[in-house]
Amino acid sequence: MIAGAREFRHSKIMSEVDAWIRMAWEAREAAYAPYSKFKVGAVVVGEGGEVFRGCNVENLSYGLTQCAERVAIGAGVVAGERVFRCVVVVAETAVPISPCGACRQVLAEFGDPEVWLVNRETSVRFRLSELLPRARSGILDLP
Ligand code: THU
Repeated sequence: MIAGAREFRHSKIMSEVDAWIRMAWEAREAAYAPYSKFKVGAVVVGEGGEVFRGCNVENLSYGLTQCAERVAIGAGVVAGERVFRCVVVVAETAVPISPCGACRQVLAEFGDPEVWLVNRETSVRFRLSELLPRARSGILDLP
């Protein structure tokens, strides 16, 4: 159990989120991860319910690797989305995957989505602002 999170057995998840989780696992199949061998899939859901998929895209330089979350965000943004209401990230980890700080900050640009972190057994749900408090305040004097 992850402190502060609500954890769900997969059979108990409502069907909408279930469908997004399935899409994220499908996206993970496309992961390009020859260096870490660690495949990640993600989906982001726009305000109107449209779903955008991402997988990690690694690079020989390592530092140019793109996380699955940011690939999915880019797909949504190019389609005109500016607010995401939900994010799902899947990987085969012992505890549900933890999105990196960079992805949390990039997500914070586009709302305060529900974030589902998923492994083969369980899903934990957070709000982005729980994973990254004060992401925007104090920068460029924005509220
Ligand atoms: N990775 C993601 O794509 N998303 C995460 O939330 C964590 C890490 C990727 C980056 C890299 O390709 C591999 O996982 C190992 O860090």
